[in-house]
Amino acid sequence: MARILLVDDDRTIRDSLELILSYEGHELVQAPDGDEALRRIGQALPELVLLDVVMPGRSGLEVLEEIQTSHPEVVVIMVTGHGDDATAIAATRKGAFDFIRKPLERDRLLVSVRNALRHSGMRREIFDRYRIVGESAALRRMLADVDRVAPTEAMVLITGENGTGKELVARRIQVLSARRDGPFVEVNCAAIPRELIESELFGHVKGSFTGADRDKTGKFEQAQHGTLFLDEVGDMGLESQAKVLRVLEQRTVERVGGSRPIRLDVRVVAATNKDLEQEMREGRFREDLYHRLNVVPIRVPPLRERIEDVPLLVEYFLEDACLRNGVRPRPRITPAAHEALKAKSWSGNVRELRNFVERLVILRPRPVMDADAIEASTGRGTESVWQEVLETSSFEEFKEKSERLFLEHKLATFHWNITRTADALGMQRSHLYKKIDRLGLRRAARGGGENGTPVA
Ligand SMILES: Nc1ncnc2c1ncn2[C@@H]1O[C@H](COP(=O)(O)OP(=O)(O)OP(=O)(O)O)[C@@H](O)[C@H]1O
Ligand SMILES: [Mg+2]
Repeated sequence: MARILLVDDDRTIRDSLELILSYEGHELVQAPDGDEALRRIGQALPELVLLDVVMPGRSGLEVLEEIQTSHPEVVVIMVTGHGDDATAIAATRKGAFDFIRKPLERDRLLVSVRNALRHSGMRREIFDRYRIVGESAALRRMLADVDRVAPTEAMVLITGENGTGKELVARRIQVLSARRDGPFVEVNCAAIPRELIESELFGHVKGSFTGADRDKTGKFEQAQHGTLFLDEVGDMGLESQAKVLRVLEQRTVERVGGSRPIRLDVRVVAATNKDLEQEMREGRFREDLYHRLNVVPIRVPPLRERIEDVPLLVEYFLEDACLRNGVRPRPRITPAAHEALKAKSWSGNVRELRNFVERLVILRPRPVMDADAIEASTGRGTESVWQEVLETSSFEEFKEKSERLFLEHKLATFHWNITRTADALGMQRSHLYKKIDRLGLRRAARGGGENGTPVA
């Protein structure tokens, strides 16, 4: 049974709702106005709110908006007085689940509540699945922007390195918007051969080109009344970019080989790990499309800018990996091990961290994971090191990455004894200190010297 918050300035209405719903076994909480309602939501964490439209003080619509930003997982049913239907319909457009009229009809009420609670279960599942974990200032700042833009209709361009969580952000935007019950359609522009992308995005009619042996609905159409996630948008060819721009401007799409334009009601959220400004300068990305997509830019910070999130993420992924792989008891990560994990350079960002924890759970499940267990698992194949070095784009970056990997390895070999490392490398000690400082190298915590402090 569920916890339900009843918000109405009329006490008799609240009481009669309470009577009906408590008979069904639900637990009820009451509030006479909007302010009290918002306070109660934070304390009681109800699954469902029945919300009066006309109240003194804050109106039901205002309260609805607040609930959607502060507690988007909560489902709301509007309760309308005589002649309030227009407002009620506006409210469902803003994301209320349903509305019921006064005077209350018991059966209608119960059906609506039952549907809303079923929906609440689904909504919570989606929230769990796409949860964005982290409490660092950098992440919070980004989430605040995301939550502000999500309920609007604005196009969003998400940028960030590989594995930072761009797709999670796109999902969150959908879940926090009034389109949350519509489709979320994803297109990975990098994964589709360039000559097929237009038919993929816009669809085609039978016979429009060799191989088109039947009509096909494009992704834009599939996303009707929902969100289209254009992932890796920086990898789209210039010609397709021009066509996408036209669709966005005209808000209609025409299937390849078709002649009938189809009206679109689609919100576009795009993502890329490329530097689109540089792509524009080098003539690989259209400026007009960039400005059209980049109405609201969201930059997902790389993990190294929010290293304090590592322990939370590790615990979250650990829990998940143990559940999925049936590992029990759930290993405990010691503080030293957390420090060791924080000190690693996660160039593959959150995805790399997640994979690492998964490997740890599967390959070395121990009741207690200390720093040694972490070190033992981080031995990397030369292949992945090479890959990392070769993926650098400029010569400067290549040199820096190589130096970093080389020095990290040597320092670890000599347990961060600077004198011995410098001797072995034929370097001046002072020079090595400078390098450590400039590259921001840090020692992973384990027994012996203090964390991060080189042993001279
Ligand atoms: N803050 C976070 N909390 C929980 N999980 C996260 C977080 N950030 C990323 N993840 C997880 O890390 C993995 C990578 O995230 P996601 O696919 O969203 O990244 P991306 O930026 O789209 O990566 P790519 O550039 O490779 O497409 C996913 O498994 C995702 O669930
Ligand atoms: Mg992605």
